[in-house]
Amino acid sequence: MTLNYEKEGKVAIFTLNRPEALNAIDPDLLGALSKAFCDFKKDDTLEVGIITGAGQRAFSIGADIKTMLPEMKRAQNNSYVQPPTIMRGLNLWKPLIAAINGAALGGGLELALACDIRIASEKAFMGLPEVNLGIIPGWGGTQRLMRLIPQAKAAEMLLTGKPIDAREAYRIGLINKVVEPDKLMSAALDMAELIMKPAPLAVRAAKQAMVQGLNLSLESGLRLEKSLFEMLATSGDFDEGCRAMLEKRKPEFKCR
Ligand code: HXC
Repeated sequence: MTLNYEKEGKVAIFTLNRPEALNAIDPDLLGALSKAFCDFKKDDTLEVGIITGAGQRAFSIGADIKTMLPEMKRAQNNSYVQPPTIMRGLNLWKPLIAAINGAALGGGLELALACDIRIASEKAFMGLPEVNLGIIPGWGGTQRLMRLIPQAKAAEMLLTGKPIDAREAYRIGLINKVVEPDKLMSAALDMAELIMKPAPLAVRAAKQAMVQGLNLSLESGLRLEKSLFEMLATSGDFDEGCRAMLEKRKPEFKCR
């Protein structure tokens, strides 16, 4: 199986599982990712997802140059349609954490960029080397990196294709945390626990407002925020959150 998709309580764990190919994304893996993201989206028991790579060396080195990129070339003649993923085509408001265990290059970094939180091992390095192949990132790298980090740094990464190490990625705000390699998954699970404490509907609405709002004018963004706020204001979890706060107890959110 090119992807291990496991459910541990309310957490879904997606492990790219082609360690012998440094978790390069081939059409099979892309299809499996798409299916798993769709299941995660509709499974009401799941709240947070963690994406990581099998093996010690790589999170993912991007689209498989031997199989995936040729398919994309053929796609110019409409013979291959990419399945929807978080990089492109699938809106997913449940939070996602990338646990970057090694190299995250090209489409591998783009997968991590489509997550909300990125935690990296000290051994990780990341970059968008597509220009070296004569292409540009095609899974959102040019758009999401420019919105995430200072533009001068994004331009340097996109125009030179040179990777940066985890410390530098942390310094420029590309990742949230750097940890020792053997602490990576526990750090990601700790972050998932923190995200699962507040009301899930509110967390999802916060993500939707943040992600969709980035592409809107301030005025439209404020309208989006207002409509999501109004939706939450009628929820039972809002009543429960306020009551629990006043009664000095832990809230019991029911996701409605
Ligand atoms: C398939 C790849 C590959 C890739 C490397 N290899 N990158 N195979 N797809 N993306 C293969 C090499 O050919 C080699 O195969 C083996 O992996 C190990 O690579 P080496 O270079 O020999 O090893 P090393 O010196 O350790 O360097 C590893 C590396 C380096 C840091 C990952 O190979 C590298 O920088 N690769 C470039 C990755 C890249 O360009 N990614 C972007 C892809 S485009 P053999 O058979 O010799 O062992 C992309 C676009 C996404 O992601 C958007 C699409 C719409």
